[in-house]
Amino acid sequence: MTALTRKVQQVFFFLLLCARCSAQTQEGDQTPEVAVCTGTQNSLSMTGDTDKQYELTKKMYTGCVIVMGNLEIAMMEHTRDFSFLQSIKEVTGYILFAVNEFSRLPLDNLRVIRGNTLFEDRYALAVMLNYQRDGQHGLQELGLTHLTEILDGGVKITQNRNLSYAPQVNWLDIVKDESAHIEIEDNGPKLTKTVCAPQCNGRCFGRNPSECCHNECAGGCMGPLESDCFACKNFNNSGSCVAQCPQTVIYNRNTFKMEPNPNAKYQYGSICVSQCPPNFVVHESSCVSNCPADNTEVEKNGVKRCEPCGGFCPKACEGTGSPNRETVDASNIDSFINCTKIQGSLDFLVTGIKGDSYKNIPALDPEKLNVFSTVQEISDYLNIQSWPESLSNLSVFSNLHTIQGRTLYRGYSLLLVKIESLTSLGLHSLQKINDGIVYISGNKNLCYHNTVNWTRIQNSGSRPQKRNKQPEIRNNRALDECAKENHVCDPLCSSDGCWGPGPAQCVSCKTYRRGGVCVEDCMFLTGKMREFATESRECMPCHAQCKVQEGKETCRGPGADQCVACASLQDGPHCVSSCPEGLMGGEGVIYKYPNKRGRCEQCHINCTQG
Ligand SMILES: *[C@@H]1O[C@H](CO)[C@@H](O)[C@H](O)[C@H]1NC(C)=O
Ligand SMILES: *[C@@H]1O[C@H](CO)[C@@H](O)[C@H](O)[C@H]1NC(C)=O
Ligand SMILES: *[C@@H]1O[C@H](CO)[C@@H](O)[C@H](O)[C@H]1NC(C)=O
Ligand SMILES: *[C@@H]1O[C@H](CO)[C@@H](O)[C@H](O)[C@H]1NC(C)=O
Ligand SMILES: *[C@@H]1O[C@H](CO)[C@@H](O)[C@H](O)[C@H]1NC(C)=O
Ligand SMILES: *[C@@H]1O[C@H](CO)[C@@H](O)[C@H](O)[C@H]1NC(C)=O
Repeated sequence: MTALTRKVQQVFFFLLLCARCSAQTQEGDQTPEVAVCTGTQNSLSMTGDTDKQYELTKKMYTGCVIVMGNLEIAMMEHTRDFSFLQSIKEVTGYILFAVNEFSRLPLDNLRVIRGNTLFEDRYALAVMLNYQRDGQHGLQELGLTHLTEILDGGVKITQNRNLSYAPQVNWLDIVKDESAHIEIEDNGPKLTKTVCAPQCNGRCFGRNPSECCHNECAGGCMGPLESDCFACKNFNNSGSCVAQCPQTVIYNRNTFKMEPNPNAKYQYGSICVSQCPPNFVVHESSCVSNCPADNTEVEKNGVKRCEPCGGFCPKACEGTGSPNRETVDASNIDSFINCTKIQGSLDFLVTGIKGDSYKNIPALDPEKLNVFSTVQEISDYLNIQSWPESLSNLSVFSNLHTIQGRTLYRGYSLLLVKIESLTSLGLHSLQKINDGIVYISGNKNLCYHNTVNWTRIQNSGSRPQKRNKQPEIRNNRALDECAKENHVCDPLCSSDGCWGPGPAQCVSCKTYRRGGVCVEDCMFLTGKMREFATESRECMPCHAQCKVQEGKETCRGPGADQCVACASLQDGPHCVSSCPEGLMGGEGVIYKYPNKRGRCEQCHINCTQG
C-alpha cells in the first residue's frame, strides 16, 4: 500500500464515522457536483424488518453516484425493485450482496470498487447465498457489466445456485491487488474481457499500444487524457484525474515564501472540493468529520479547520462550591481530567481532602491532585482550607495563569487558610487576579508569599479595580525567620518577588527568561545554539538556517529572514538549506539553482527538472 492510499484510507475512516446516512446532492461551485452517499457497515447483521430496510436503502442510494463506504444489500425478497442502484459508479468500501432472492443486480454503471474497507478483511466484492430457501427464486444475473477495477481486496461469489448467467469475467484482470483472494464456487462459467497492450498497465480504450489510458485513470477510459477516465485512481479535480488536489500552500515568486493558495482544494473522499461539505472540517488538505485528538476545531474566515492545540486542547469544566459538590473529593476528582478552564470555583475542604465518612467518601489520594496541572484559568475563586500533609506547595497548579474572580468567596478570590504543610506557594505561572482580595492566613510554615508583588498580579487584569484589594496576609511564617533559613528569592528574580525557591519560581526576572526560568543572559554571542530576546525579554532560538558566528549576533527574530547571515543558501530574504525545487507556484512548478554567491536564482522557464 502506498503512503497516498493509506492517507486516503485515513480520510475514509473519518468519512465512515459520519452519522448522516441519506443520499445528498451537492450543488454549486463550492461543494462537490457529484452525488455522494455514505453507505452502511452492518456486515450480515441486518434487522428483521425488510420493508423498513428496503425503504432506507432506497432513500440512501437513489441518485447516488459515489458510495463513500460500503454498499450492503441482504435478505431482500424477489419482489423488490433495486433499479435505483443504476446511478452508482463508484464504491469506496466493499460491496456485499447476501441472502437475497431477486434475480438481477442492477449495478450496470459501476466502474470501480476501491476496497478501502473489506468484507471479512479480504473481499471487496462478496455475493453469497442469494437464493430462496423454500422456493424457485434466486440471483440469476450479475449486472456488473462495466466493473473494470477493484483497487484493493478480492472477490467471493459463492453458493448462488441460480447464477448461471454471470458476466463472463476474468476476475484476475479486474482485481489490482495481486495477493487478493478470489473465491468463485457453485456459479456459472467464465470468460476474459478485452486485453490491453502490455504497455498499458491493464487500462486501455483499444488493443493498440497507443490506446493506453492516462496513468491517473482507474476502471478504464474513453481516450488518452486525464479527463477521459471512467474513474480516478486518486482524485477527481473538476473532471480531470490527478495525483493530488491543488495544494493549500504554494510558493510565491515575489515574496520567496510558501503562501496560502487561493485556488486550493481539499480531498473529500476521491473528489477535490474547494470547500468541505457542511458538517465536515478541514484537516491538513482533507475534509474530515472529526478533528484528530490533540487538534481543536477553529473557524477562520468562514472555514472550519482542525488546528493542533499546542499543549492542552481547551476544555471547560464545572467547578465546586455548589451544595452537591462542595469540595474537590475522591468522588469527583476524575471530572477534572484534561480541564484547562474551571467554569466556577475550586474549593478544597477537609471533607474532601481527608474524606467524609458521613457521605462514605474516602480520603483523596494526593497524587490525584496532579489533574489540576492542566488548569490555566479559574473563572471564580480558589479556596484552599485543607491540603494533603505530604504536599509542601501548590505546584499542582503550575499552569494556573489567571483567577478571574467573577464570583467571590466573601470578597476573596484566593484563600489559603491554616495549611501547616505549606512552605511555599509554587504558583509560578499565576499572572493575573482580576478581582477579589487575596487572603493568606495561619499557614505557620509558609515563606516567600510575602515577597510577591501582589499589586502587580492584581493590576495586570484588563478591568479597573473597583474594591479595596489590599491582600490580607497574616499569621504565616515571619519574614525574618524565612530569611534566617535562607527561604529567600533567587538572585535572578526581580523585586516583584517569588513563589518559592529557585530561578523557576520568580514572579518576573531581573534580566532575561528562558522557558519560564530566569537566566542571566541569552545566548547572543556565544554557544552552539544562538538566541535573540523578545520585547518581554524572553530568550528565543534563532532559525536553524542562520549562520552562527563567533562573537557576533546571529539573528534579530525567529524567522529565516531575520538572520544576520545564512548558514548555507539564500532565497530572497530567507536563509534556506536548499533552493526551491519542484515547488508548486501560482503559474506552475518552480525550479531554482544556487549561484556562486549562494543565492537562489530562477531556472529558465522551459526547464522541467531543475
Ligand atoms: C433455481 O435453482 C433451483 C435449484 O437448482 C431450481 O429448482 C429453480 O428452478 C431455479 N430457479 C430459477 C428461476 O431458475
Ligand atoms: C469527476 O467529477 C465530475 C463532476 O465534477 C463528474 O462529472 C465526472 O464524471 C467525474 N469524473 C470521474 C472520472 O470520476
Ligand atoms: C486527556 O487527554 C489525553 C491527551 O490528549 C487523552 O489521551 C485522554 O484520553 C484524555 N482523557 C480524558 C478523560 O479526556
Ligand atoms: C513542591 O512540592 C513538591 C512535593 O511536595 C516538591 O517535589 C517540589 O520540589 C516543590 N517545588 C518547589 C519549587 O519547592
Ligand atoms: C509592583 O508592581 C507594580 C505594578 O507593576 C509596580 O508599580 C511596583 O513598583 C512594584 N513594586 C515593587 C516593590 O517592585
Ligand atoms: C521554450 O519553449 C518555447 C515553447 O515550447 C519555445 O518556443 C522556445 O524556443 C523555448 N526556449 C528555449 C530557450 O528552449
